[in-house]
Amino acid sequence: MTLRARLILALLVVALVPTLVFTAFTLDQLNRAIDRWYRPGVERALGSALEVTKAAVTRLEATAAMGANDWARTWDSLPAGPRPDQVRASLRAAGLDFIQIYRRSGERWMRVEQIVPQGVIVAQGAELGDEIAGALESDRIIRSARGALGGVALTGRGEAVVAGFWVPPDFFSQTESVGRGMTYYRQLAVTVDVQRRVLGLVVAGVCLGLVALAVVLATGLAREMSRPISELSGAIERVAAGDLSTRVTPRGAFELRSLGASFNAMTGRLESAREALQQAEREAAWRDVARKLAHEFKNILTPMQLSLQLLECQVEAVPEAERAEAEKSLEALMREVEGLKHLSEQFSQYARLPEPRFERLDLAEVVRAAAGFVPGANLRLSPSGEGPLVRGDRLLLSRAIHNLLLNACEASPPDRPVEVCTSVAGREARVEILDRGPGLPEALRQRLFEPYVSTKKRGSGLGLSLVRDIARQHGGQATLEDRPDGGARARFSLPLAAGERATLTSGSGAGA
Ligand SMILES: Nc1ncnc2c1ncn2[C@@H]1O[C@H](COP(=O)(O)OP(=O)(O)OP(=O)(O)O)[C@@H](O)[C@H]1O
Ligand SMILES: [Mg+2]
Repeated sequence: MTLRARLILALLVVALVPTLVFTAFTLDQLNRAIDRWYRPGVERALGSALEVTKAAVTRLEATAAMGANDWARTWDSLPAGPRPDQVRASLRAAGLDFIQIYRRSGERWMRVEQIVPQGVIVAQGAELGDEIAGALESDRIIRSARGALGGVALTGRGEAVVAGFWVPPDFFSQTESVGRGMTYYRQLAVTVDVQRRVLGLVVAGVCLGLVALAVVLATGLAREMSRPISELSGAIERVAAGDLSTRVTPRGAFELRSLGASFNAMTGRLESAREALQQAEREAAWRDVARKLAHEFKNILTPMQLSLQLLECQVEAVPEAERAEAEKSLEALMREVEGLKHLSEQFSQYARLPEPRFERLDLAEVVRAAAGFVPGANLRLSPSGEGPLVRGDRLLLSRAIHNLLLNACEASPPDRPVEVCTSVAGREARVEILDRGPGLPEALRQRLFEPYVSTKKRGSGLGLSLVRDIARQHGGQATLEDRPDGGARARFSLPLAAGERATLTSGSGAGA
C-alpha cells in the first residue's frame, strides 16, 4: 500500500469514527426522547375512554327517547292538576331524572310543567324550549349545554314532552374534547413516524456529506503530505541512475523542507566530487600524453642538435659564396630546434611535477630571479627591496612566475612595460603581473588553465596549467583576468610563512 493510501485511510478513520459514533449516540437519544414524548398506550387508553363515554351517552339517549315517547303517548290521558305520586314514582322506575312539558306559543316553545321523581327537589331545572325545534328536525335528542340530555316527543294535543337526565353543564364539551384529543393523538402518531423518517434522512444526508468532505480533505491533505516524499524518492532514483544534476524544490513541513535542502546539498557535493574526479582522470591522461611526447621529442631532438652542431663546425668547408646562406639556414634550424626543445621541456615539466622542497623564501627575490630568465623583456618590478616571506620550493615558484612573465611579455607590445608587483594582502603574499596586451581570448576565457589550451602557434598550452598546479602545491592559487583599462592581470598568491606579519614589506634593487 502506498504512503498516500495509508495517509488517506488514517485520516478518514480519525475523522469518521468519532463522527459516526457521535451521530449514532445522538440519533439514539433523539429516538428515546420521541418515544418518551409519544406513547401508543396513551392513544389506546384515550380510545377506550371515548368508546365507553359514547356507549354510555348512546344508552342515555336511547332511554331518554324511549321515555319521551312513552310519556307523550300517556300524557293526554292523565288528569289535569297536581300529578299524583304514582306518576312521579313511575318516573323513578323508568330511571329518568325529569319530564318537562312545553306548549308552543308563537314561534317559541314555553315550558308549562316539570315533573321530577319522588323525593327529588329541583329548584328550577334547565329551560330547554329553544332546543326543541332543532331536535324535532333531527334525531329528537336534546344535548344541552345547560346541563340536560333529553328525548323529545309530541303529544296528541301538540305539546312537546322532554324526558331525560341532568348532566354536568360541560358534559358534552368534555366528551368532545376527548374525541379531539384522540384525533390529535392519531395525527401525532403519523407526525412522529414522518419526523422519525425525516430525522433519519437528515442524519444520513449529514453523514454522507461528512464522509464526502472527509474524503476530499483527507485526499488533499495526503497529497500535500506525500508529494515532497514522492518527489524526493523520484529524485533519489534519478541520482542512483547517475544523474547528479537532480535537485528537488524543498516544500511541505519544516522537516521535509530541510530534508529537501540536505538532499540538494548532498547531490551538489556529489556532483562537484565527480567533476573533480573526472578532472583528475583527464589530467592523469594528459600527463601521460605529455610524458610520451617529451620522450619522443628528446629522442629526435638530441641527435638533431648534435648533427647541427657538427654541421656548424664544418660550415668553414662550404664555398665562400654559399657560406652566408648556409650559416643563415643553420641558424634558423638551430632556432627551430630550440623552440622544439622548449616545447619538450614544458611537456616534461608538466608530466613530472617534482615534490616541492619547502624552505623560507623572500618572494620578491624569487620574482627577481624569474625575471632574470626573461632577457630583454620590458619589465617594471615594484616595490624593490625585501619582499614577504613565504614557505615554498624556489625552483617551482620561479618556474611558475617565469611562465606568467613569459605570457605577459608575449601578449604585451614591446614599447609597453609589464608591471610586476609583490605585495601582502591579509594572510597571503601576492605577485601581480600586469600587461597592456589584448586581454584574454573570449572563447577560451574559462579554459585557459586547462592543459593544451593555447592560442599561440608554437604554444604548448601547458604554461598556465603548470602555474595552477604549483600554486595548489603551495596552498595558494593563480588567477588571470582582464584589466578594466586594457590588458591582463595575472595573480599568483600563496600563504605567508609562519611568523610573517600580515603587512606589505618592500625592498630595493629589483630590476629586469
Ligand atoms: N597575459 C596574457 N594576456 C592574454 N592572453 C594570455 C595571457 N596569458 C595567457 N594567455 C592566454 O592563455 C593561453 C594559455 O597560456 P599558457 O601559458 O597555458 O600556454 P601558452 O602560453 O599558449 O603556451 P606555452 O606556455 O607553452 O608557451 C595563451 O595561449 C593565451 O591565449
Ligand atoms: Mg605560456
